Amino acid sequence: MTPILQLDNISKQFPGVKALDNVRFEMNTGEVHALLGENGAGKSTLIKIISGVYKPDSGVMRFDGQPVVFNNPREAQSKGIATIYQELSLYPELTVAENIFMGHAPKRSIGPLKVIDWKTINERAVELLASLHIYDMDVRRKVGSLNVGNRQRVEIAKALSINARVLIMDEPTAALTESDVEQLFQIVRLLKERNVGIIYISHRLQEVFELADRVTVLRDGQYVDTRPVSETSEENLISMMVGRTIDNLFPKLPAAPGKPVLEVRNLNHAPLTKNVSFKVHAGEIVGIAGLVGSGRSELAQVIFGMTPAQSGEILIEGQRADIRSPGQAVKMGIAYVPEDRGTQGLIKQMNIRENASMAVLRSLSRASFIKFGEERKLAKESIEQLSIRAYSPEQIVNKLSGGNQQKVVISKWLASKPRLLIMDEPTRGIDVGAKSEIHRLMSELAVKHGLAVLMISSELPEVLGMSDRVLVMREGQIVAEFDRAEATQEKVATAMMSSGQKAAVTA
Ligand SMILES: Nc1ncnc2c1ncn2[C@@H]1O[C@H](COP(=O)(O)OP(=O)(O)OP(=O)(O)O)[C@@H](O)[C@H]1O
Ligand SMILES: [Mg+2]
Repeated sequence: MTPILQLDNISKQFPGVKALDNVRFEMNTGEVHALLGENGAGKSTLIKIISGVYKPDSGVMRFDGQPVVFNNPREAQSKGIATIYQELSLYPELTVAENIFMGHAPKRSIGPLKVIDWKTINERAVELLASLHIYDMDVRRKVGSLNVGNRQRVEIAKALSINARVLIMDEPTAALTESDVEQLFQIVRLLKERNVGIIYISHRLQEVFELADRVTVLRDGQYVDTRPVSETSEENLISMMVGRTIDNLFPKLPAAPGKPVLEVRNLNHAPLTKNVSFKVHAGEIVGIAGLVGSGRSELAQVIFGMTPAQSGEILIEGQRADIRSPGQAVKMGIAYVPEDRGTQGLIKQMNIRENASMAVLRSLSRASFIKFGEERKLAKESIEQLSIRAYSPEQIVNKLSGGNQQKVVISKWLASKPRLLIMDEPTRGIDVGAKSEIHRLMSELAVKHGLAVLMISSELPEVLGMSDRVLVMREGQIVAEFDRAEATQEKVATAMMSSGQKAAVTA
């Protein structure tokens, strides 16, 4: 059998970094092929070459056994290569159907004119969604009003509106809820049955074992190996990706909590924060577990002043704090690493140095400027601490890989030396090596520097591995609290689900 896709000796140089160095890759029809590697390993660059966004500097790509050169994404699409990029690319102001057929709308003739056939577009969109077993979406609805899971489905439908033979998915599950992930997997399996070849990029190894037939690992732009998934293990894959074994993903230091840094009493903000009361002490990590939609991020945003409380009290080190804006929160010594780091955390056109020092600038209200040299030192420290893959602190954040952009946001808030650090999904989209680094930093900040840490996470092992105390939220309320010693996966998961819910909780 000829592989549908075969790449040999592919290299790609960007200013200051060799993103790919003699990489090979092959894929058969009907195969789910996972592509793994640390942040900055070259995964997105490789798939951008396959999809015609970049041309390789050297190397050969074959499609159906024939050498091909793609000058642009359209040429790759015409061969049936469909791509869902790491950054979603829909237009919020357009409808579902318009988004799906953007750029290749069916046209009809009026005399000598060809005009876009809107009626057909809507019908075809409904058919296309039905072919993916999606029956409950209104194709006339604006995409901006859909939740992330549904946007993802539109994105897939859009990719498949060309007759796809290869579908590339770059971290499709990074922002999805558990039930959305399950639906996505069903679509992937459906396409596999139809003999579509699927390239699947993810930092969640569990998904690789659940979905993929083979896996290819990249490290620092180089090809490491390709193996059948059945002949590998999680440990195996980690050491192939990182080049060493990681003995402890949760390096938690024993804590001796001090005085309360944060106390909230009967906090309310309709509809998702209801009568919430709890404390976080100096030196303590408090984890908040809960299903997506249980109100965890909303609570963080109330504390941080983005959506100020409607009633209730917030006390910082015993003093009542009336926090009406993020600026006030920062002055009170609160830092917040948001969940959606792409839009909330960074100014993408600025470089690492400027982004990393932004929070410091804001926290030092007296200092009207910060010395270039200090900024640069700070950025260099961040790059080292979190192993950000960049050639210089002057690199524009936009040009970093997705995961490395996230690390910049985290370092930015760590640099602000807060009293209370709120982290929302701190390791989402982050590779396994850096994950353990972020966990170690978090624990050190708490235990050695006396920070109070409030961590929201959908990964139960992370909650259990890092928290001194676990709070569980459901429908805007705190419904359970466990000490580190008594918290188990089972107890926390049970508390997360209301009696009616039977959703599977991923470990
Ligand atoms: N347009 C660009 N200009 C300059 N450098 C780039 C560009 N795109 C990527 N790079 C660099 O190439 C390297 C590989 O990046 P790539 O996006 O392929 O990584 P990745 O494996 O997808 O990582 P992640 O898991 O973080 O998404 C990184 O060092 C990145 O900074
Ligand atoms: Mg990437």
